[in-house]
Amino acid sequence: MDSNLNVLLIDSDENSRSVIKAYLSQVDSDGEGIGIAAEFSDFDAGFELASKSGRCVVIVDISENPERVINDIKNLKSQNKEAFVVVLSNRASADVIIKTMRAGAKEFVSKPVIKTEFLEIFRELLKDINSKEEKDSCKIISTFSNKGGIGKTSVAVNLAVELAQMSKEKVALIDLNLQLGDVATFLDMTPPFAMDYIADNIGSLDNEELLKTMTRYKNTTLYVIADPLNIDKSQDITAEQIRNILTALKKTFSYIVIDIGTNIDSKTITALDMSDLILLIAIVNLPAIRSTQRCMELFDRLGYGADKIKLVLNRYMENEDIKTSDIEEVVKQKVYWKIPNNYLIMMSAINKGVPVNEINPDSNVAVNYKEFASKVSDYLITQKLNKSYNREVRI
Ligand SMILES: Nc1ncnc2c1ncn2[C@@H]1O[C@H](COP(=O)(O)OP(=O)(O)OP(=O)(O)O)[C@@H](O)[C@H]1O
Ligand SMILES: [Mg+2]
Repeated sequence: MDSNLNVLLIDSDENSRSVIKAYLSQVDSDGEGIGIAAEFSDFDAGFELASKSGRCVVIVDISENPERVINDIKNLKSQNKEAFVVVLSNRASADVIIKTMRAGAKEFVSKPVIKTEFLEIFRELLKDINSKEEKDSCKIISTFSNKGGIGKTSVAVNLAVELAQMSKEKVALIDLNLQLGDVATFLDMTPPFAMDYIADNIGSLDNEELLKTMTRYKNTTLYVIADPLNIDKSQDITAEQIRNILTALKKTFSYIVIDIGTNIDSKTITALDMSDLILLIAIVNLPAIRSTQRCMELFDRLGYGADKIKLVLNRYMENEDIKTSDIEEVVKQKVYWKIPNNYLIMMSAINKGVPVNEINPDSNVAVNYKEFASKVSDYLITQKLNKSYNREVRI
């Protein structure tokens, strides 16, 4: 056990604290156990010390006042990045779990705490904390369609902007339309470095240098890699370079959003393979639905499961001739999200080179993109929880 790691326990119930202390004494396989550095029934005092404790584990019960304690966790994480928070709660609803993970908690344990589950979670947590490798908590989201002009770039750009705004964490937006991408135009940027330079130099750039080659969108946490200025350069970029770039970005960013485009080649397949979530964009007309169906067949051959691919209908209008249920039957996939049709706002955003929320944050598309980002982020949290512990958290 790392002797520099303090464990703080905050729980108003004395019995519950005793149970946790007893379990902690059995965490180490060599029988040493883990002692508690401090325990609190008073939440203010507990969080106060945690904020000044440097590298520490904070075990906190949120059952009594979840909203307040979730807020305390958020504040703690902003003051002490090295505080790893384990939440205990007698209410394990998807809503509470997602809110605590969003606030920055590392683990969620349902009460009454089951010894084997607690020990397993705590041992994994210690492994993560002690590991020299940086924990991979970055999520890759791609927008794809094998038809042009469907809205892939609009979705990638607006979703990335909203994810950055919502999470305040670093988000990378990558244009993989290597010949004539639009991302830089959509955000009115003239990047000094583009994908070709980064691909050529990825082997020698450290994380900080890599960040400096990317173009920051205004004063936000969104950083962009645009397509090469010179079309010829795109030919020289290899699938391996794309893999290396994404692997490097995962160390710094919380989300990577990739505008994959329509092309299927070794580079785009590499990006699709590495994606946690592929947003398959379609619109409600027969040719688009047919090609979406073909995309699904391709994804099936590539071995992508239903948890990885989500169908998004763009430019959606109520009372369409083709019903959503018909589309779902043809494509054999539930519709995950619908983005309303609003040509005026979308065109105005593209022509001004800004996201839709800067044209009119109250417009139906801007509100929709905000909700979409929140749904995607929640989904990725539940995907992680389900994978880690085979827990069923559904939203
Ligand atoms: N929600 C929406 N409502 C109305 N029009 C939209 C919407 N989203 C996108 N569009 C319009 O669709 C057009 C294509 O959008 P976009 O460039 O994002 O698609 P794309 O799939 O990336 O195209 P390409 O295949 O050329 O890269 C744009 O003119 C845009 O204004
Ligand atoms: Mg595009």
